[in-house]
Amino acid sequence: MIREVLRMGDPRLWEKSSPVGRFDSQELNELIRDMRDTMAHLNGAGLAAPQIGVGLRVVIFGVQSNPRYPGIEEVPDTVLINPDIQPLADELEEGWEGCLSVPGMRGWVPRFRKITYSGQDERGQHFERTVEGFHARVVQHEVDHLDGVLYPMRIRDFTRFGFNEALFPGQELPPED
Ligand code: NI
Repeated sequence: MIREVLRMGDPRLWEKSSPVGRFDSQELNELIRDMRDTMAHLNGAGLAAPQIGVGLRVVIFGVQSNPRYPGIEEVPDTVLINPDIQPLADELEEGWEGCLSVPGMRGWVPRFRKITYSGQDERGQHFERTVEGFHARVVQHEVDHLDGVLYPMRIRDFTRFGFNEALFPGQELPPED
């Protein structure tokens, strides 16, 4: 079921989410299904459970050759539960981000360039990946949602935060997640 995505200002987006303890539950399966439906409906690159008002440490993401983002780096369709992120270097890289909870805007956000992330899949199986670039950025953006952090809170250069039409007149927009 397509769910409503909460927008910045809703206090539920500032809360720290709780770990998932049970994996074969109808509740978790329905949550993941709803998140997939909602992300697909909005052509997002990712979605975190708190964005649909559920305070659990569940994120999904994935980017294929999406009509909205031709030429973007692909990211495998992933369900990531109870995630942990380890940066592999202090090096930060800035890039454009958007968020389904901050519609109509984009900002220039510093993120770790290379990370190892780990967590559980929807069956509770543990997995780990080492990634960089756009994939690493998407994971950091999603996991921030679980700690009540939205990307505008990480922006350093506020001349590069604004409305899509003003920042990118007549151009393609960076992805939203
Ligand atoms: Ni977001």
